[in-house]
Amino acid sequence: MKPITLALSKGRIFEDSLPLLQAANIEVLEDPETSRKLILPTSRADVRVVLVRASDVPTYVQYGGADLGVTGLDTLIEHGNQGLYQPLDLNISRCRISVATRADFDYAAAVRQGSRLKVATKYVAIAREFFAAKGVHVDLIKLYGSMELAPLTGLADAIVDLVSTGNTLKANHLVEVERIMDISARLVVNQAALKLNQAPIRAIIDAFARAVVKA
Ligand code: PRP
Repeated sequence: MKPITLALSKGRIFEDSLPLLQAANIEVLEDPETSRKLILPTSRADVRVVLVRASDVPTYVQYGGADLGVTGLDTLIEHGNQGLYQPLDLNISRCRISVATRADFDYAAAVRQGSRLKVATKYVAIAREFFAAKGVHVDLIKLYGSMELAPLTGLADAIVDLVSTGNTLKANHLVEVERIMDISARLVVNQAALKLNQAPIRAIIDAFARAVVKA
């Protein structure tokens, strides 16, 4: 029988997921930081982990390349929720999504005066919805990383990006001018896989649920 496949991304999501995996008796047998493998065996013969780009986790789970996955709410919103069962807020990898500008940019005045803002971001769906709800006109510029550079080079007036400690903004002389939403990692499950393989997948969901540390 095909093993249950769990999609994770390297880095913070992987690290923060380890206590949850442990609660489901799943120990990943190789370190993704040193191994070049993309399919990692676990201590359970019936469970394997696949390592994918963070933004690809919902895609793998939606189309059945993985049965379950752990993904940030930011990624989930950008992907769209279609077809994904989302049973749990795992309350890990917490951060926020915010608007940031150069310290010398008068964001409040620009918003008040109804100026057209140039906003650079990887999170275009979140940014579009946020500014539309405020009635602010924006030109969205899609970037794939290093958003902080955009206001510094004149590419944009503002960015919409993840903020955790705030150190990246500070190091680049940017200020957080508005918080859009709190972010945490979510468990996503392929609905067909859950129907076909109900008992073991449900057991993993339940073990994760018991191990979630409440806010
Ligand atoms: C995120 C985000 C910021 C940084 C914020 O990047 O894009 O650059 O973290 O963290 P801080 O407030 O603690 O400084 P990440 O490292 O996730 O990589 P990314 O650029 O690929 O999004």
